[in-house]
Amino acid sequence: MARIISGITSTGKLTLGNYLGAINNFLKLQEKHELLIFVANLHGLTLPIKAQALKENIRDIAAWYFAAGIMPNKTHIFIQSDVLAHTQLGYVLLCNSYVGELERMTQYKDKSQKMTNQNKTISIPTGILAYPTLMAADILLYDADFVPVGIDQTQHLELTKTLATRMNNTYKTQLFKVPKIIVDQQAQKIMSLQDPTKKMSKSDDNLKNTIFLSDNKQEVTDKITKAVTDSENIIKFDPQRKPGVSNLLTIYASITNKNIKTCEQYFSNHNYGFLKKEVIKVINNLLEPMQKKQQALINEKLSQLVEYLQQGAAFANKIATKKLNFVENIIGINFIEKEK
Ligand code: TYM
Repeated sequence: MARIISGITSTGKLTLGNYLGAINNFLKLQEKHELLIFVANLHGLTLPIKAQALKENIRDIAAWYFAAGIMPNKTHIFIQSDVLAHTQLGYVLLCNSYVGELERMTQYKDKSQKMTNQNKTISIPTGILAYPTLMAADILLYDADFVPVGIDQTQHLELTKTLATRMNNTYKTQLFKVPKIIVDQQAQKIMSLQDPTKKMSKSDDNLKNTIFLSDNKQEVTDKITKAVTDSENIIKFDPQRKPGVSNLLTIYASITNKNIKTCEQYFSNHNYGFLKKEVIKVINNLLEPMQKKQQALINEKLSQLVEYLQQGAAFANKIATKKLNFVENIIGINFIEKEK
């Protein structure tokens, strides 16, 4: 059975982009594969965040996974920092990476550009530069076959493959399996509602750009009603010329599990008002039951949630510790070999 690993960073509240680009894929994959899914809380430290907000984000993301339908008896869900080997291997990979290749990461470039202080000095946290090496460790510790992500993460995954191959070659040993990337063709990049040329993101300052999984019916209605379209009033999938309408079509198609062509035909004789109403309907139908389950886990079944996460961490720890010991023995960190 193929092993699959993926995670979501606890920098903010989960968005519809996270659901359609990542979680929805996990749900499909859990039927036939061994899945390990984690809350990337160490990655959540790479940008300044208040302790209370971080705690809530971690708890909420864990609860969303289960509320969305990830089954604790099939999939292993854990919190990244509960498996210490992530940080340890992250450091080893950091030492096998080059500053230049980390500086070339587009997410690093984007984030570091926003780090100008009020007095015009620039303070770029080192964590955002080192981030992809920790991400590589998250994956390589488990000899994962596949990593399902949205398209924005593919550059980090290419680096993961480079680091794995580099270390395998340096030490002339198959230290790591080189993973393959899985990207959902349709929902690989859900776009911002007000600026559909950029990604819908959980850290966007303009809340109107983003549907959060926690949004209520009215918030969804307001945001989709005000979503940017164009003046043509023709419902057609054309991301270059019609990014707003194409994004709404993508959201509709992904939630209803239909292909874009079928949806285009369905909407062909309708106007944008109708498209938006239908999109609002399917989003609310998706979110409402999920929100009830997520709230129940947090408010009534928190100990159950914690137990699932402990079980997930115990499972992950076994695999990760074995791999870390193996790597450390090969690279010479231990003068007496650790248990394999
Ligand atoms: P993060 O937390 O930014 O996003 C989590 C997952 O959601 C996908 N995603 C989207 N997909 C489609 N449209 C969007 N608008 C959208 N926004 C986000 C992301 O591609 C991702 O799959 N570095 C990662 C977390 C991570 C990770 C890992 C992932 C840490 N270690 C190891 C895989 C394997 C991140 O920040 O994702």
